[in-house]
Amino acid sequence: MANLFARKPLDKLMHEAEEVGEHSLKRSLGPWNLVALGIGAIIGAGLFVRTAAAIADRAGPSVVIAFIVAGVGCAFAGLCYAEFASLIPVAGSAYTYSYATMGEFVAWIIGWDLVLEYAVGAATVSIAWSAYFNRVLDWFGWRIPYEWSHSPFEAAAGTGVHGIMNIPAVFILLLLSLLLIRGTKESAFVNGLIVVLKVSIVLLVIGIGWGFMNPVNHTPLIPAATTYTTPQGIQHAYGGILGILGAAGVVFFAYIGFDAVSTAAQEARNPKRDMPIGILGSLVLCTVLYVLFSYVLSGVASVQDFRSAGREASVAFAITKYMTGYEWLSKSVTVAILAGFSSVILVMLLGQSRVFYSMSKDGLVPKIFSDVHPRFRTPYKSNLLFFVFTGVFAAFIPEDVVGEMTSIGTLFAFMLVCAGVWILRVRRPDLERGFRVPALPVVAILGILVCGAMIYGLGWTNWMRLIVWLLIGFIFYFGYGKSHSHISAPPPEMPEGIKLSK
Ligand code: ALA
Repeated sequence: MANLFARKPLDKLMHEAEEVGEHSLKRSLGPWNLVALGIGAIIGAGLFVRTAAAIADRAGPSVVIAFIVAGVGCAFAGLCYAEFASLIPVAGSAYTYSYATMGEFVAWIIGWDLVLEYAVGAATVSIAWSAYFNRVLDWFGWRIPYEWSHSPFEAAAGTGVHGIMNIPAVFILLLLSLLLIRGTKESAFVNGLIVVLKVSIVLLVIGIGWGFMNPVNHTPLIPAATTYTTPQGIQHAYGGILGILGAAGVVFFAYIGFDAVSTAAQEARNPKRDMPIGILGSLVLCTVLYVLFSYVLSGVASVQDFRSAGREASVAFAITKYMTGYEWLSKSVTVAILAGFSSVILVMLLGQSRVFYSMSKDGLVPKIFSDVHPRFRTPYKSNLLFFVFTGVFAAFIPEDVVGEMTSIGTLFAFMLVCAGVWILRVRRPDLERGFRVPALPVVAILGILVCGAMIYGLGWTNWMRLIVWLLIGFIFYFGYGKSHSHISAPPPEMPEGIKLSK
């Protein structure tokens, strides 16, 4: 039985990286592929849906500042991720890093926490997908009734009709889970196409929308501090500094995914040089786009719009209502967003199966999560179990709740990564690092502080959700993981089917 703080030896990890690299994952990704991979995973529901929620519930037009705060927090964490990824180029992301640096218990906490990031995150994006999908059906005069496209905790403004379950969200999760089981390889080419599509749409909305901004919507830029109670009866701090911090926690969701680049470390041609480029490059590009985009969106439509009909499919709504003559843009946005969301969900479900695959190989979760399909060579049982898990969240929980759970869980994981990189520098200064975080204790401490501030801003309902989630995780760890851990078992081998590139 391993002890709580047993660490996975670094040399063993490096050895696994080489072994696995040779036998199954090809090193085929260059720096631009990695930046594209990052953007493919990053731009999604956070920008196109959560921005509107942050404007409505937390910050009004000061959402722009919130995007800067969240970007700064991610930059600090991204630097730390980059050092780890250039040092330990293996799949498994933050879970693997922490196993080597902070021991098994912390690794378990991160692995368990990453379920919030990847699985609950995928559920969030699927709910956003459902809203945009209904808009496409609208063009043909159809619509999935409110009851069957919303959770039971939501009611249509004005009519009082309650949701029952969100069927389109479950449908897209099922479709993409089946694709993963079939062993879909997100080829660099398809991902590149989706990235071009998403970035073009963001640029078009910024460029065209700029002329339709109404200065009234930006005045004052930072609303006075007060509170706002959502239609579900949840009260948030609105306006002022707290509003900005809360909004930063909400739109932080839009940055999630740059760490997915680190899960492709085994497929990078020159991970020591290219991983930092991939992680930081995609992060910088997205931050610039996000700040401009949120400035335009909050200038085109009003806070009141985003609190009512414009809350769902907000970008298409704002274009249709305020940008006369640009209905084609609204339609293109909707199609691009549906494609973009699908790629984000796919990467998240893939990330989830990879993390649990690694944890299962380490004995921390049951073997079922690393059972590989005899023909497709994918962890199909894991994919099916996570479909059921994500499906329940997508069907019955409102998007705000799952979105904020994703944000808080990921922020917590980022704080642990910042601490981990610092600990490893102190413990193993000798290791060769392809990329070194500059001014180390300072950057790690700032990362922990900024991410901590966003967690603070997300408010006590979210703190409770995180605490309950971690407590459930402790029960599983002490009931199963601790006694099944086989830290000294043979190195894991990644099945052929779960890779990001050919
Ligand atoms: N960053 C991803 C999104 O916004 C998760 O959808």
